[in-house]
Amino acid sequence: MSVRIFISYRRDDSEGETGRLHDHLCNGHFSDEELFLDVEDIATGVNFKDAVEKAIDECSVMLVMIGTNWESSVDASGNRRLDNPDDMVRHEIRTAINSSKRLFPILVKGSKMPKANQLPEDIRDLAFQNAIEIRHAHFKNDVAGLVTTLRQTLTEIEGYSKEPANATIIRQKENALKELRFKLIGATDSPLFEYRTKNNYLPVLGDGNPDANIIFIGEYVGKTEAEQGRPFIGPSGDVLASMLKTINLRREDVYVTNTILDRPVDNKPTAKDSAYYMPFVDEILNIIQPRVLVPLGGIAMEYALNKYNLPEKGGKIGKLHGSLLQATLPYGKIFIMPLYHPAVVLYNPTQRATLEKDFQRLKVFI
Ligand code: URA
Repeated sequence: MSVRIFISYRRDDSEGETGRLHDHLCNGHFSDEELFLDVEDIATGVNFKDAVEKAIDECSVMLVMIGTNWESSVDASGNRRLDNPDDMVRHEIRTAINSSKRLFPILVKGSKMPKANQLPEDIRDLAFQNAIEIRHAHFKNDVAGLVTTLRQTLTEIEGYSKEPANATIIRQKENALKELRFKLIGATDSPLFEYRTKNNYLPVLGDGNPDANIIFIGEYVGKTEAEQGRPFIGPSGDVLASMLKTINLRREDVYVTNTILDRPVDNKPTAKDSAYYMPFVDEILNIIQPRVLVPLGGIAMEYALNKYNLPEKGGKIGKLHGSLLQATLPYGKIFIMPLYHPAVVLYNPTQRATLEKDFQRLKVFI
């Protein structure tokens, strides 16, 4: 995995705050390899400047940690460090600006953003970037805000749309999904198998593009769905279709499935049902390899948060809907954007606007 976030700082200015922020970002938000911090990441014997330049070249954003001594820091001879073109911090920022990297000044210890006329010409652009303040007393909240901003920015920059696979791979994916469906049909050990056969219901693996970038995961199979063998074909499906239309996506562009792939007994899903179908859902994801997973509703969201052990675990859909989370699956990194279940609009039509607004956020993935 390559560096995505480069952290630039002055040791005599913000070493403690930088270390704390780095550790916090590594704790469930980003992996160690995605962040670059010189003390951590430069092996002994490696040329410091080369290692820094390589990391800047790889990164998508640079965090510039600015404490109260950042701008005025002086060297052993009493000269302001920033006035020396070889000052490492100035070099890092200049390199990032010259290669059009996104810069985020991070203000710590109550520092203020330096004015443009206090900065050497080659890094003056820094003064015009939106700064983010991280306050000691509000560390957790401020870092949570930073994480959200970073995720959105990284998505914009790195573009999480995926290149469509070639025809051969698509055929392989179609066949793998067909095989998985046969396995589901023959799942005699499922806690819902007997109920399914007794009622002449069909299991519902899912439908849509076998190479989709976006996969929607609903809650469980409803009656109409179990009778016809397709997910989201009742009134909730109509809402889903109308939401997709608002962002110019067709049902066949995405893949739609559920956390439970059979109709639960009396429409009451159990933890046992959920656990049974989890490996099937995992397999669907491994075959399709979407970059974006959209749990629809609280049950599907809880499923994803627990399954991928995300720090947001235990959170409520009312708070997390529309937020961009990240997880790593066996085939790579994915984004998770929980949304309200489409049925919310059927119970409360005023929620249509909220759902539409959240759907707009999926546009970056198209
Ligand atoms: N239909 C589905 O397939 N899933 C739901 O969650 C709701 C309706």
